[in-house]
Amino acid sequence: MTQHEPVHPVPTLRLPSGERVPILGQGTWYMGEDRRSRREEAAALRLGIDLGMTLIDTAEMYASGGAEEVVAEAIEGRRDEVFLVSKVLPGNASRRRTIEACERSLRRLRTDRIDLYLLHWRGRYPLSETLEAFAELQKAGKIRYWGVSNFDTDDMEELVGIRGGAKVATNQVLYNLSRRGIEFDLLPWHRERRIPIMAYSPIEQGRILRNPTLQRVAARHGATAAQVALAWILRQGDIMVIPKASRPEHVRENRAALDLTLTAEDLAELDRAFPPPTRKVPLEVL
Ligand SMILES: NC(=O)c1ccc[n+]([C@@H]2O[C@H](COP(=O)([O-])OP(=O)(O)OC[C@H]3O[C@@H](n4cnc5c(N)ncnc54)[C@H](OP(=O)(O)O)[C@@H]3O)[C@@H](O)[C@H]2O)c1
Repeated sequence: MTQHEPVHPVPTLRLPSGERVPILGQGTWYMGEDRRSRREEAAALRLGIDLGMTLIDTAEMYASGGAEEVVAEAIEGRRDEVFLVSKVLPGNASRRRTIEACERSLRRLRTDRIDLYLLHWRGRYPLSETLEAFAELQKAGKIRYWGVSNFDTDDMEELVGIRGGAKVATNQVLYNLSRRGIEFDLLPWHRERRIPIMAYSPIEQGRILRNPTLQRVAARHGATAAQVALAWILRQGDIMVIPKASRPEHVRENRAALDLTLTAEDLAELDRAFPPPTRKVPLEVL
């Protein structure tokens, strides 16, 4: 089951606007760092699009714009197939500079719009300023939706209390088997309000793949540890998951994680190895 051509389409979830997006997408952190690898990275993203992982996450931060250029190459001629996510750095998140940062991202991405534009993490500018810039960008058609990243529950409370803040489309946070803190309060907070979470570093940048429990569960299914880690988040159905893969075999393997159904026995074993939180854990970041 590790690799085969997919039969079923990638399931979708609804953003607060009602628009459907795939629950399995693709990350791009560390893409674009080395010019010699760019072609392979763009090819990996294109393969992912072919396989239905059409949500692509990038940021002005990644390779100082280099990752956005890789995405531009990957989506050339097929912009309409893709749901594009990018992010503004907190140091650029003033009203004026957010707009300028977005325009630079659009140029690098070689497109006229970003589907979802996120504040990468909280910085020194008041959220109200960044939100005003997002509203202006939306009005100009340069972004379709906006959201945040690395916001804990108190940040989200503050955000939705600000004028226009309740329109937030997502909060992109660190979430995987070894980082379950959000299950205590942030994830329930989002579920109550039907604002979906987007889970980054879903395989902990590869660090959890050597875990013996993960490997045991994987072996029972003839799957890989990465597939178990991804299937564990994907089974929830209301979280977007964005693994990054620059190798085509990883892209195919990650797509096939959607075909893996974990049993009650698997889930119990994973809970023993990676216990859920029993109290508030401050949001972890990478
Ligand atoms: N908002 C934020 O602050 C934030 C922070 C971190 C990440 N992110 C976003 O989330 C995305 C994903 O997170 P991430 O890149 O940190 O980590 P990740 O997706 O958990 O792991 C990526 C690493 O795992 C490898 N990999 C991928 N699929 C694999 C498979 N099936 N088997 C074995 N290894 C596999 C990749 O190798 P290859 O590349 O060689 O295939 C890469 O080294 C990022 O790319 C970025 O878009 C956002």
